[in-house]
Amino acid sequence: RTASTRSYTTGPLLPPAYERLYNKYSEVRRVLGKQRLTLAEKILYSHLNNVEESLLSNTNNGRSIRGVANLKLLPDRVNMQDASAQMALLQFMSCGLPRTAIPASIHCDHLIIGERGADADLEKGIQTNREVFDFLESAARKYGIDFWPPGAGIIHQTVLENYALPGLMMLGTDSHSPNAGGMSTITIGVGGADAVEALVGAPWELKAPKILGVKLTGRLGDWVTPKDLILHLAGRLTVRGGTGYIIEYFGPGVDTFSLTGMATVCNMGAEVGATTSIFPYTDASARYLKATRREQAAINASALQQFPGAGASDDAFFRFRADDGAEYDELIEIDLSKLEPHLNGPFTPDLATPLSQFKKTVQEQGWPEKLSAGLIGSCTNSSYEDMTRVESLIREADKAGLKPKSTFYITPGSEQIRATLERDGTLDTFTNAGGIVLANQCGPCIGSFVRSDGVKKGTPNAILTSYNRNFRGRNDGNPETMNFLASPELVTAMSYAGTTTFNPLTDTLTTPSGEEFRFPAPRGREGPETPFDEGRKSLAVLSQEPDASVQVAISPTSERLALLEPFDPFPESDLSGLRVLVKVTGKCTTDTISAAGPWLKYKGHLPNISANTLNTAVNAETGEVNVAYDALDNEAQVTIPELAERWKKRGQPWLVVAEHNYGEGSAREHAALQPRYLGARLIVCKSFARIHETNLKKQGVVPLTFADPADYDRIGAGDEVATIGLYDMLRAGGKGDVRLRVTKKGTGEQFEVPVKHTVSEDQAKFILAGSALNLLARGG
Ligand code: F3S
Repeated sequence: RTASTRSYTTGPLLPPAYERLYNKYSEVRRVLGKQRLTLAEKILYSHLNNVEESLLSNTNNGRSIRGVANLKLLPDRVNMQDASAQMALLQFMSCGLPRTAIPASIHCDHLIIGERGADADLEKGIQTNREVFDFLESAARKYGIDFWPPGAGIIHQTVLENYALPGLMMLGTDSHSPNAGGMSTITIGVGGADAVEALVGAPWELKAPKILGVKLTGRLGDWVTPKDLILHLAGRLTVRGGTGYIIEYFGPGVDTFSLTGMATVCNMGAEVGATTSIFPYTDASARYLKATRREQAAINASALQQFPGAGASDDAFFRFRADDGAEYDELIEIDLSKLEPHLNGPFTPDLATPLSQFKKTVQEQGWPEKLSAGLIGSCTNSSYEDMTRVESLIREADKAGLKPKSTFYITPGSEQIRATLERDGTLDTFTNAGGIVLANQCGPCIGSFVRSDGVKKGTPNAILTSYNRNFRGRNDGNPETMNFLASPELVTAMSYAGTTTFNPLTDTLTTPSGEEFRFPAPRGREGPETPFDEGRKSLAVLSQEPDASVQVAISPTSERLALLEPFDPFPESDLSGLRVLVKVTGKCTTDTISAAGPWLKYKGHLPNISANTLNTAVNAETGEVNVAYDALDNEAQVTIPELAERWKKRGQPWLVVAEHNYGEGSAREHAALQPRYLGARLIVCKSFARIHETNLKKQGVVPLTFADPADYDRIGAGDEVATIGLYDMLRAGGKGDVRLRVTKKGTGEQFEVPVKHTVSEDQAKFILAGSALNLLARGG
């Protein structure tokens, strides 16, 4: 990141990354002319592999690219968390390359529980997961990847503090990676297979997103925070409203936000399904770069915005904001001055209730009035600003002799935040008030919350968190725990009251001496007065050169890690002799195909995790859950994964037949890897969830949809299936019709079923090679 030695006759020097960005941007401008661009478009299109081809071939002179073109992008870096990094690295290893093509980092944050407090939990977590951490650390050394061990921090906070720079494009193997959009980056959450494409230097494909503009005016009120903006938006957009969109914020209200406030809003764009979210670069962004000891980055960002210097036309400048007059596919205007604090939940982040209505809603809905626990921090809300605002509330309550009535937990987002809050006395304020400071890890946010308040599984209860997600069982594994999302300030005030019906704006608490106490409005500081304390940054291993002599640590007897074997290539003919493993009815999400919870520990061991394949799927012919019948063994009754395992051993390839939106939910690549590992060649259904459909192709499974959905009724478990035209279609780069010839089990009756596909030219190559990885491994 040192300044380039290349000199220009006009304008300042640019560092190499910005020189690349600028050169690409100039190409974008050459192709698109004076078209007004949003910030997201400027950054995204300036990372295209081939600007001219991408912007012109798919569009009407570059004007209707959104939602139409397939962009081939070259990201600047990849960030991986420990749970998803395992499969990403196992796949990368099988490509046989000596180093990653672009910088990457691993963050050990998901595998530590939240129970007794930072030190005890960290020690226990390291012991329980030692072999996974050893594997990740050795792979980092071998391939020259930055390694942030347990305790160093949560991926999104660490990325924001260390790697996020305006104008970059990053991929992260976690859905909340868009957090870095607060620093004007395009950061997209992906699965391991996508990460590997970027790690080997292959272009990464994305359907050009549409842009949802959110224009902010006014200024947030005393108790209202950036978190309330996104909670409010989630209520308006719902969990699917952002699908296919980048959410771009603009307008004068943006300048009233801190950098970390912008990051919080971007983080939770994942809750409305957005591809990512982004804010312009502001004075607050520059202040944050300086506070995190990256003053040179602020100088570089300013240099880029002034380049190429006086005399150039206005379009020649790359500015970290939308052009005046840029068009949005959808536009929402929000006056921040009119926004209220919100509480969202239970069980879904888009069930938004303004604070003023919450007491009434709790009572009408019969939700618990007792608040059992309040949890603040996490990757979403553990900034210096968040924590010092909370501290101001706690200090006032303390002066009045009050203590929280609910158990109160604090999760710092990173070692840097933790050390700075410790240095500045904030952590002492929390612990003196009875708060429990947990490790700088995901812990309670990802189901590793071990309750110490005696609430047993199955008991309905309410908790309040400043996290981002609140699906059933998300925090403590108890499906009856109602998790409401709110700002850290609201969580804290309500924890003192111990009730879900308390409104700190209007209600009072009674002090031990019998007086009425009303919380004053929270007051905090955007950042520390001196730069952040880096704490035990030496824990992290950064900027290491690859070391080919390192043996990646995987024990042959490990139950948690297993090297991957390449999948077989597609045969040089159509498929024949397939059998329908199971015909599924109803929802079949990625959770149905590859369950989480206790199975998470097998994420790096494909054979072991495959024992959960489709284990909550409903058999359409019997109505039973996870029950299948072996057509090749007198209809013996077994579980679905058992039948898949039996057929794998026999060398019997198979397919699944399903209904609509197969694979909805997350980008979980295991939901594609596992069926492939067990012998699936086709999934045939009424419709697919888009990301899962792509994931299947990447693993060499062909997703097909019924041309006539009524044909679903004609195929059953155990029927034999052959393809007609599939091989020719793949060889023709995705062009041509495909049919299935079905031979009914028992009667031998035969008929043909026309099917549809969305296989592109590149995807046809993946499938023929056996998987995208096979193709990448041979340099395809
Ligand atoms: Fe971790 Fe929760 Fe964020 S799981 S990465 S703290 S969303």
